[in-house]
Amino acid sequence: MADGLTISPIAGALGAEISGIDLSAELSNEQFTAIHRAFLDHHVIFFRDQNGLTPDAHKAFARRFGTLNVHPYVKGMADHPELLEIIKEPEDTVNFGGGWHTDMSFLEKPALGSLLYAVQVPESGGDTLFANQIAAYEALSDGMKAMLAPLKAIHSASREYSAAGHSAQARKSMQASTATEAPEYEHPVIRTHPESGRKGLYVNPAFTLRFSGMSRAESKPLLDFLFNHSRDERFTCRFRWSAGALAFWDNRCCWHYALNDYAGQRRHMRRATVNGDRPV
Ligand code: SIN
Repeated sequence: MADGLTISPIAGALGAEISGIDLSAELSNEQFTAIHRAFLDHHVIFFRDQNGLTPDAHKAFARRFGTLNVHPYVKGMADHPELLEIIKEPEDTVNFGGGWHTDMSFLEKPALGSLLYAVQVPESGGDTLFANQIAAYEALSDGMKAMLAPLKAIHSASREYSAAGHSAQARKSMQASTATEAPEYEHPVIRTHPESGRKGLYVNPAFTLRFSGMSRAESKPLLDFLFNHSRDERFTCRFRWSAGALAFWDNRCCWHYALNDYAGQRRHMRRATVNGDRPV
């Protein structure tokens, strides 16, 4: 219990549910500090029963953590360009979700965190999985850590958000536009978290194309190893959504994965993304 909040871890690796807070009300500094601490300690935090959280309240809570991103390739809500609607209709047959990633690592300054709010959820299915990239890094051998330490990797939206890309195909309701000419940015493979100082792996299957100074073919074996390692079950947690729940994850040290196992049902989510800084 901290400042009226109860913080309950949901798994060994990461993730905690926080109760005793109404996110539509203005947070006291004590509440903000406790939530911020839980966010750094658990990497992804969950709030249930925030029913009817308005877009303005969603943005106001997100803004306590930084400025909000307007997605360069996906159109936001009409009156709230900082909020992305992530909707899968019952009749949609597209291969929605189903890919581990870190939001916006294709930017020069990738996202700090994402706040995903559940407007409508399927009766069963549609969970989101998270993977702790600090734990994934710490589990590597000293030899692998030393080999990765000087490496940088190239990230871009060009594959995922180009017309044929997985995200562009899957997110028709989000009006994805093409990103074939998206720029490439170089980020360290091992990232030091700017707030906790802890080291974590910072590559992901959606947006990391190759290691700097190497071809895709040369990069593939080691990237494939890291992608498999990073989603090992022992580094993960899984969140079962309920309408009105909000998840806030740290993109600087987490991957996430939207499970597409609810054919014929509707799922409607809304996401705010907080801008971050340049990885070091
Ligand atoms: C996302 O990748 O930002 C959305 C995750 C989800 O819909 O569970």
